[in-house]
Amino acid sequence: MGSSKWAFVVLCWFGLLNVSATNVYIVYMGERSNLESPELIEETHIQILSNLFESKEAARSSILYSYKHGFSGFAAVLSQSQANMIAEFPEVIRVIKHRILNLHTTRSWDFLQLKSSIEDGILSRGQKGEGVIIGVLDTGIWPESESFKDHGMGEVPSRWRGVCQGGEKFNLSNCNRKIIGARWYIKGYEAESGKLNTSDVVEFLSPRDAVGHGTHTSSTAAGALVENASFVGLAQGLARGGAPAAHLAMYKVCWATGDCSSADLLAAFDDAIFDGVDVLSVSLGSSPPLDTYVEDALAIGSFHAVAKGITVVCSAGNSGPYPETVINTAPWLISVAASTIDRAFPTVVTLGNNKTIMGQALYTGRYVDKFYKVVYGEDIASSDSNEEKARSCDVGSLNTTLAKGKIVLCFLSRRQRSSIVAAHTVLAVGGVGLILMQFPTRDVPAFYDVPFVQVDYEAGTSVLAYIHSTRDAVVKFSHTKTTVGRLTSPDVAFFSSRGPSSLSPSILKPDIAAPGVSILASWSPAASNSPAIANAPHTPLYFNVESGTSMACPHISAIVVLLKSIHPTWSPAALKSALVTTASVKDKYGEKLVAEGAPYKQADPFDYGGGHVNPNNAANPGLIFDMGISDHVSFLCSMGYNDSSISLMTKRHNKCGNSSKLLQPNLNLPSISIPQLKNNLTVSRTVTNVGPVNSTFKARVKSPPGVAVKVKPSILSFNSEVKKLKFDVVFHSKLRRQGTYSFGSISWLDGIHVVRIPLIVRTVIDNYFSNS
Ligand SMILES: *[C@@H]1O[C@H](CO)[C@@H](O)[C@H](O)[C@H]1NC(C)=O
Ligand SMILES: *[C@@H]1O[C@H](CO)[C@@H](O)[C@H](O)[C@H]1NC(C)=O
Ligand SMILES: *[C@@H]1O[C@H](CO)[C@@H](O)[C@H](O)[C@H]1NC(C)=O
Ligand SMILES: *[C@@H]1O[C@H](CO)[C@@H](O)[C@H](O)[C@H]1NC(C)=O
Ligand SMILES: *[C@@H]1O[C@H](CO)[C@@H](O)[C@H](O)[C@H]1NC(C)=O
Ligand SMILES: *[C@@H]1O[C@H](CO)[C@@H](O)[C@H](O)[C@H]1NC(C)=O
Ligand SMILES: *[C@@H]1O[C@H](CO)[C@@H](O)[C@H](O)[C@H]1NC(C)=O
Ligand SMILES: *[C@@H]1O[C@H](CO)[C@@H](O)[C@H](O)[C@H]1NC(C)=O
Ligand SMILES: *[C@@H]1O[C@H](CO)[C@@H](O)[C@H](O)[C@H]1NC(C)=O
Repeated sequence: MGSSKWAFVVLCWFGLLNVSATNVYIVYMGERSNLESPELIEETHIQILSNLFESKEAARSSILYSYKHGFSGFAAVLSQSQANMIAEFPEVIRVIKHRILNLHTTRSWDFLQLKSSIEDGILSRGQKGEGVIIGVLDTGIWPESESFKDHGMGEVPSRWRGVCQGGEKFNLSNCNRKIIGARWYIKGYEAESGKLNTSDVVEFLSPRDAVGHGTHTSSTAAGALVENASFVGLAQGLARGGAPAAHLAMYKVCWATGDCSSADLLAAFDDAIFDGVDVLSVSLGSSPPLDTYVEDALAIGSFHAVAKGITVVCSAGNSGPYPETVINTAPWLISVAASTIDRAFPTVVTLGNNKTIMGQALYTGRYVDKFYKVVYGEDIASSDSNEEKARSCDVGSLNTTLAKGKIVLCFLSRRQRSSIVAAHTVLAVGGVGLILMQFPTRDVPAFYDVPFVQVDYEAGTSVLAYIHSTRDAVVKFSHTKTTVGRLTSPDVAFFSSRGPSSLSPSILKPDIAAPGVSILASWSPAASNSPAIANAPHTPLYFNVESGTSMACPHISAIVVLLKSIHPTWSPAALKSALVTTASVKDKYGEKLVAEGAPYKQADPFDYGGGHVNPNNAANPGLIFDMGISDHVSFLCSMGYNDSSISLMTKRHNKCGNSSKLLQPNLNLPSISIPQLKNNLTVSRTVTNVGPVNSTFKARVKSPPGVAVKVKPSILSFNSEVKKLKFDVVFHSKLRRQGTYSFGSISWLDGIHVVRIPLIVRTVIDNYFSNS
């Protein structure tokens, strides 16, 4: 959704030109006092604003939201000078300018070995998530979908305080024992972007989903079992959510443009904390450069949720394979990278010389089993474009006369990386199909009316050689098939955003990888189904195949639900630790996982954090790296944020004080990341035994190349008295080099469990710059 970023840039520019312009601001006031009622808190918000407006009424009408459940604050339409004045109030932590966030757009569960037939698997032990409530912050939900039927669902938990908020084509009857809550938030969006005109774009002013994304993510997390689901006959099988017995609450914060307002997002967090969700699944985020943790609505909202024991799971972003692109990097979040699953959609392409090549496509329909003329984009450039653009089938680059009725071969280039753009271009000039050449990836975009076959450079190069070897080059596409289980997998998907975190490199991000490529799940039939079919009639889609870290996030949310059913008292940090320390770094054949990109490479923690999720092992991790909110406060202090700001964020901790001396790598995470190792550094961790009472663990160290690592003590013995033990890790740089990152691990072994944490170290030289 690149266009919205531009919209945001334009808005800011406009703001600069017009000094009296108003904008949405979030006035954040930190942890709310438990002594005050929500009504009283709202009253204080109006009081503060009344100082800036002529009347109390004017103040009241400028408020979009009062945040008064999970934390205190409000969103209001203010001028720059009013915002500056409000920032001076002692109760105000920070005034944050509104931001636009974007979406990160069934076999996957069996692939994770969550088949319900596995008796002692996490799915049966976790009772399929019965009684647990997942909140999803997304584009809404299509309540009539088969995935949201409530047959066999348990009663709505009595602790639930949420509502089923009505609106356009959505009323109380759309909620049931599966969808137990639904709310929608548009005030922030409309205050910034103007009224949403539903005659321009299909959208519902209600929790109803017009995009498909929210229906897809929520059915992935907690959809009921649906037999024989498929996307136009492909990927056919049983579709079900990871925690099919869990309840769902939808908080619609994103709209048909793909944009989500930070003021709306924060209101959703506030309500979700009040309503009583157990897990929040958030498949969206803002694009880099990253806001500081005290200015980022998602970080603030999730901080308060985690403080209340709610685990917040986020997508890591779709800006890979480039380093430092990961977003949602706060240490209290679980940030999820996307991996491929063991399903593929091979398609045979036959050239006129009878040679065949293999490609991948998600397509059934017209123009198959018949030879068509094939041309290379560069050879049919439109005279008002250029060859370089035509090579990648960039917008408007092809000559209609020369392309009509033909199949076009396109190369994705650095400048034009979008297969959707290429498909649009080819269709616009009357092409009957395209062969898209790009680096090897298993992410295949779904187009269901256009033959769209993706090939790697090797196969593409042979097609090109063939085209140039004859005057009458023709190709034929066969029908796409679905194959399962034959490929080694998982691989980290090329689009998955990579670490290190550009905001806090001592916090490893992403945390973990989960399936996010070609995921089949429910869809909104109101959504425009395929972006490439501009002139084809609208066919409603009830299931769709989608890729993105957006799809990976709800997989982890569901597994957290199952873990929470088994271990109801575990903190968000403990649940994350269980996931990360048991994640796999090898596939079922014992081969190290790889990461897509250019080129393929062995995957490292910047691709997948602890590794690829292994749900059954996560239920029984042996040791956990636990943390409470005070540890996160110490971390914020160490980030150098204003002392008094942080103390207001959580009233239980008065001052940063000594904790500001926290060495960031000492935050008790299930990973150790040292972005600047000069000579020696000692880092400590504390582990809690959650396995058998009498357990003895031995350390196994794999040092990062160029670094000596010692663990002290190297044996940890637990008994009925000793539940927690601290250990030190001493790092010594052997390199006199301004280094790149290198990777290792520490595993604690007791004969049953392998508790593995990744080590990430970059060696640096003292005075590197002053010496040169
Ligand atoms: C809710 O909407 C349905 C149609 O979608 C309608 O049949 C029903 O009467 C409505 N119920 C209420 C309580 O308004
Ligand atoms: C909404 O869009 C339609 C069609 O583009 C237009 O006729 C109408 O005036 C718009 N309404 C508003 C409130 O802007
Ligand atoms: C399953 O779906 C396919 C394609 O949509 C259809 O042909 C078939 O009859 C369905 N089978 C059952 C058992 O519903
Ligand atoms: C391709 O194969 C078909 C049937 O196998 C054969 O009739 C035809 O002559 C072959 N064409 C070429 C160019 O080899
Ligand atoms: C497209 O190609 C035809 C045939 O070569 C040519 O006559 C025409 O000028 C071209 N048009 C453009 C816009 O390139
Ligand atoms: C920290 O915030 C307080 C209250 O907002 C302010 O008075 C103080 O000047 C700030 N300190 C720094 C160093 O910014
Ligand atoms: C801060 O650290 C000093 C020295 O390390 C110690 O004496 C003091 O008690 C600490 N203060 C608090 C509030 O922990
Ligand atoms: C750093 O560690 C190495 C190896 O453990 C040791 O030989 C050396 O003396 C240490 N240096 C310092 C300055 O502590
Ligand atoms: C743990 O070890 C102690 C001492 O050896 C023993 O008394 C106790 O029964 C053991 N507990 C369990 C649960 O095995």
